[in-house]
Amino acid sequence: MFKHSRGDFPDGFIFGAATAAHQIEGGWTDGRGPSIWDTFARTQGNVTNGDTAEIATDHYNRWETDLDLLRDAGFDGYRFSIAWPRLIPEGTGAVNPKGLDFYDRLIDGMLERGLKPLCTLYHWDLPSALQDKGGWMNRDIAGWFADYAALVQREFGDRFFGVATINEPWCVSFLGHFNGHHAPGYRDMRAWARSAHHVLLAHGASVAAVRAEGAKNVGIVLNLQKCEPASEGPEDTAASHLFDGVINRWFLDGVFKGKYPDDVVAKIAEYLPADFESDMGTVSAPLDFLGMNYYSRSLLAYAPERGAFPIKDVPARLETTEMGWEIYPQGLTDLLVRVSRDYTKKPIYITENGMAEVEGVNDARRVAYLDAHMGAQIEAIRQGVDLRGYFTWSLIDNFEWAHGNAKRFGLVEIDFQTMERRPRQSWRAYQGMLHNTRGPR
Ligand code: FCB
Repeated sequence: MFKHSRGDFPDGFIFGAATAAHQIEGGWTDGRGPSIWDTFARTQGNVTNGDTAEIATDHYNRWETDLDLLRDAGFDGYRFSIAWPRLIPEGTGAVNPKGLDFYDRLIDGMLERGLKPLCTLYHWDLPSALQDKGGWMNRDIAGWFADYAALVQREFGDRFFGVATINEPWCVSFLGHFNGHHAPGYRDMRAWARSAHHVLLAHGASVAAVRAEGAKNVGIVLNLQKCEPASEGPEDTAASHLFDGVINRWFLDGVFKGKYPDDVVAKIAEYLPADFESDMGTVSAPLDFLGMNYYSRSLLAYAPERGAFPIKDVPARLETTEMGWEIYPQGLTDLLVRVSRDYTKKPIYITENGMAEVEGVNDARRVAYLDAHMGAQIEAIRQGVDLRGYFTWSLIDNFEWAHGNAKRFGLVEIDFQTMERRPRQSWRAYQGMLHNTRGPR
């Protein structure tokens, strides 16, 4: 059971759960085109145990069961993503009618169950045909993405509660192009710098595109990490500040102030696209909401051996999740207060938060984690933050990117052999808290 209840949150606060297409759908069939994660996962050494998302949780065939799980827990909303290569297999051009049908039924299924659809346009499954042209390193992606975004809005947008453009642009650019942990697996300063700008340029271009098709509630999803120095010394403090610049300020300053932070620009100026400054009006298009993903804290230390970016993480000091991430709810309060003070007064949603835990349905530690992070949100609201909703990552265990099926974030356990869904204690805790207390649909 949770200690908190709906009554601790403002009226109309939305409780939901989140997933992403590539992590759950499977269904590499019916005309879906290849994505960068398909081949990245099939390349030996990139994903734990050689797992791929070919079947994933078979959500493509079992989506009704999954929507029933959301409804039966009492959730108000569902954050899901659309697979670009399922709708437009080559990334641009011909549209796949079976892809349109699938999302049409899925979104209607949400509405039939009283779930508010919060759609993410891009959660990392770039069509391979666009990677062949340079993907996020190619400036043309702003136009490719805007055209896809307009299609989604035209087809489904009148049924959305809200639309978020890009999930975690830091992961797209840094993990995908600088440290190579994610597809497309580059380890290259120039690739990172260019993708870090183009991902936000594409975001801004898509904001205009969906608004032109009538979207009224448009935002982006940023992963914010609490950064703290490993010691009080000036070098570690500087390392922590620089990492905060790379992971947090690049995106917050870009989107909300129309200017990248000088300390990070100074590190990568020679690799940034020429004249990037003239795009900053597009990058900082006003938004209707901010989606924030929060998981943990990083402790940073000065590491001169690392060259241009002399920063390293030091080992966790607090209790950790199965990812090795510190459990640090205070960081969520701090970041919410900071964002609301320094960046935006627009509504904020926590669009992801949760923990990886060992197998089994007895996840008392996850119940405590979620409960503590609810407390952190209540404290932020008390301090004046306009927080409107909380989406737990994740509804079900799924393909956790480079960790494959080995890291389990679900409120519902998946047996990857049989695809059986088994609700965990945490799902039951939500049911106890939310069932019969949903607001008007
Ligand atoms: C976030 C991703 C999400 C999931 C969680 C654990 O970075 O957006 O897909 O992998 O982490």
